[in-house]
Amino acid sequence: MTSSTFQDTVSQFVLSKEQVQKIVDGLTAELVEGLSTTDPKNITQQPSFITRLPTGKETGLYLAIDMGGTNLRTAAVHLLGDGQVGVTMEKHEITQELKTGTGEAMFDWIAECTSSLLKTVALDMGNAELQMGVTFSFAIQQTAINRGKVLAMGKGFDLSGVMGKDLKDLLEGGFTRKNLPVSVSAIINDTVGTLVSHAYVSPSTKIGVILATGTNAAYIERASEVSKYNGPACDQMILNTEWDAMGKAEYLPQTKYDKEIDAVSLVPGFQEFEKMVSGLYMGELVRLALVDLIEQNAIFESLGGKVPESLKSRLAFKTLFMSTIESDNSIEHTAVDRVFKTSFGIEGLSADDRSRVFELVHTIGKRSAMMTAAACVALLHKANGASVNLDNADEITTIGIDGSVFEKYPHFSHSMMESMIEILGQDRASRIRLELARDGGCIGAALVAMVAHSGGAV
Ligand code: GLC
Repeated sequence: MTSSTFQDTVSQFVLSKEQVQKIVDGLTAELVEGLSTTDPKNITQQPSFITRLPTGKETGLYLAIDMGGTNLRTAAVHLLGDGQVGVTMEKHEITQELKTGTGEAMFDWIAECTSSLLKTVALDMGNAELQMGVTFSFAIQQTAINRGKVLAMGKGFDLSGVMGKDLKDLLEGGFTRKNLPVSVSAIINDTVGTLVSHAYVSPSTKIGVILATGTNAAYIERASEVSKYNGPACDQMILNTEWDAMGKAEYLPQTKYDKEIDAVSLVPGFQEFEKMVSGLYMGELVRLALVDLIEQNAIFESLGGKVPESLKSRLAFKTLFMSTIESDNSIEHTAVDRVFKTSFGIEGLSADDRSRVFELVHTIGKRSAMMTAAACVALLHKANGASVNLDNADEITTIGIDGSVFEKYPHFSHSMMESMIEILGQDRASRIRLELARDGGCIGAALVAMVAHSGGAV
């Protein structure tokens, strides 16, 4: 009885070939829809105003900042040519006080951090203006390569005097107040940074993906396809897909646990794809399924159907625990014991309990890899015949992927590739490389600042 309850729960997370194909088709249709949509609620397929990738030959010194949900990174990036870079980077935690204070305080602080970096690298600027590239992981409506209105700031930010303002003006306001001659020449999404920076070291890169707390991707599209874009003429454009926000109910295989995560989230109905795939949510899926199974006495039977308090709080089961559990190849799955004892005070698990937890974790992790693979295939389909050519046996297409889930989750890359072979067939899949891309934020921003500065943007 308990075994069939357990198997019924786990099997909800198993994707069939048909389900994966439906995800590919559904996402491909949404990628097309996003190119022409005029619905202000549809934030997908954002033009970046960047019209070419770096060649790897670029040289020069650029400043960069990468503002995420937790940290601000500042960097001086020396582009040395031949794909070589020299980077001096500093990291500052963004405090709760800053996140919920005034915009002016935030941008003063960013200027201070920039000033500290300039001291570290002992840069004597004289009167010369330094160019800066900015990676910003919040929603902005981009109006030029270096301009965009701040639309919304999730991730615990509540800044006054910022919404609707132009990010370049806000940043340069802070620099001027600190007498720093810094000019913002590019503003990019983190996926665009990943694509651009990985293309610098690996020129066959045509897609950049983030697989971390959130997930998203950028790719190169024919400008003639982007009918919602009405800026200066160009042939091609890097688009920030915001695939996080894609995913219609008709094709997303949501379990009741996925629906629960969505229902209690800050914005229900938003970022449905991301909520099934990314690092912020995978562990929570495991927790919700476990709680349900414990209540039905289908796991941890020694608890007698009573869920321990430690397992009751939202997001208590981190995706990192999944990585720990999957890293342990022993038949006894002793890592399961460690995680539950150390982090939840739960002891006395049976061998069955341990292998069930392992199976649940593995199935949810694998689903994430399969869905990410499906999304990559949708992008490859959309770009095929233009920036990508999967039908040419001599052409390799590299997907640069940044983020803790891709980097740290055991076998993630392998599972993605297995799934791509299943969807695309061995021949076409063999022309694709999945590569870990690192530090896309600052290097990508510096590269785009350079590209913008030398006329590679509109
Ligand atoms: C979220 C953001 C997106 C970002 C992604 C990865 O989905 O909406 O802009 O690229 O997280 O950090």
